[in-house]
Amino acid sequence: MEWSPRSWVVKPCAQQPVYPDEAALQRTLDEIAALPPLVTSYEIEALKSQLAEAARGERFILWGGDCAESFADCTSAAIASKLKILLQMSLVLVHGTRKRITRIGRFAGQYAKPRSTATETRDGIELPSFRGDNVNRPEFTIEARTPDAQLLLRGYERSALTLNFIRSLVDGGFADLHHPENWDLAFVKHAPLAAEYQRMVDSIGESLRFMETLAGGTISAMQRVDFFTSHELLVLAYEAALTRRVPRRDGCFNLSTHLPWVGLRTSDPSAAHVEFCRGIRNPVGVKVGPETTPEQLLATVRTLSPEPEPGRVVLIARCGAHRIARTLPPLVRAMRDAELPVVWIADPMHGNTETVVPTSGAWAGKSVKTRKFGHILAEVEQSFEIHRMEGTVLAGVHVELTGEDVTECTGGARGLTDDDLSRAYRSQVDPRLNYEQALELAMLIARRAAGR
Ligand code: PEP
Ligand code: CO
Repeated sequence: MEWSPRSWVVKPCAQQPVYPDEAALQRTLDEIAALPPLVTSYEIEALKSQLAEAARGERFILWGGDCAESFADCTSAAIASKLKILLQMSLVLVHGTRKRITRIGRFAGQYAKPRSTATETRDGIELPSFRGDNVNRPEFTIEARTPDAQLLLRGYERSALTLNFIRSLVDGGFADLHHPENWDLAFVKHAPLAAEYQRMVDSIGESLRFMETLAGGTISAMQRVDFFTSHELLVLAYEAALTRRVPRRDGCFNLSTHLPWVGLRTSDPSAAHVEFCRGIRNPVGVKVGPETTPEQLLATVRTLSPEPEPGRVVLIARCGAHRIARTLPPLVRAMRDAELPVVWIADPMHGNTETVVPTSGAWAGKSVKTRKFGHILAEVEQSFEIHRMEGTVLAGVHVELTGEDVTECTGGARGLTDDDLSRAYRSQVDPRLNYEQALELAMLIARRAAGR
């Protein structure tokens, strides 16, 4: 079947909102289709080659951000703190791995969420599930929960605002390796790992001064680091409206983000989301779970990339600390033996979500969704080990984190317990690593990637 930005419409398509007014939806999509793109094909191709380098072990990918962005968090402080934690983590990773780091944010478009059920029932009333800020609103009323096409436009605009601020910060020297003090968050001084982090900052500063003395000037590459954007592909009509041909390049690019990914719930190789991804020239992420079979994964990868193209298919494994040892190796071997140049990424978050019931504090007796830091670390550790054993490369990690001082995952240097969760739990969706836990994870990866 011939591909087009709309060829997915004849395939089974999971997780789509049902809009009450088709004509209003179409008007909004036409409006979005006429607006400028959010990213360029040039940036997308640059990311693809960096992904290919990472798959050869020449780089490391640091990919992170919120589970879902909210429109309310499109603020200067929230965006800057996300960049700060990613920059601090990448400094730790540069120091430990001696590799170049590519930073990819789950931001500037991560507004839609897959849901396990299409509706939610409370006190006998059944309403559509909340699917994220670009689809509907969280309040439990029929008005709020009815999908509103205008929110797609609001989401496009929020993505543009976020990207504009990120690009200006980066161009203005915010990400300059000469000034890591720009990335200090207010509460960092009190973090248990602050001293170790400061030692790395000092050591990188020293190396930088040494190299610049040799080079006889500032090394401008160190003054600018890039951020790429990514989000889960969910509302395909929106993605199609931003999928276009560009001058002097073959094929179509999804210009809503650099790196779209297909979630676990939409990863069927014969269904709409994979069909949509088949024809776009972006690198494409695919979530891989403990139930994914080697046959299914081979079908997916061959559909997305009939000609093996380095950097094109990014496999994000999220098996869970207790299942990865059994489930990941057969998948890794299948890709290796078929000589498919996939980019393997570890997502140690989504296979480790659990529900706990705190026994004291404000949330005593209530069910809370959390993740144990120990499980997250264990999944990362095992990912490195499995790839080492199989002679393949772990190209990077994909994590849910925030630069803020939240209490959503337990454990870590400060030993957060279930009873601490009520203190600063802000996620509407999945629990994120807080600032300290994210930095601690980076330190562990740095040690591990350096072979220590
Ligand atoms: C996510 O990345 O937030 C997500 C929903 O993941 P998965 O599709 O792996 O469950
Ligand atoms: Co999530």
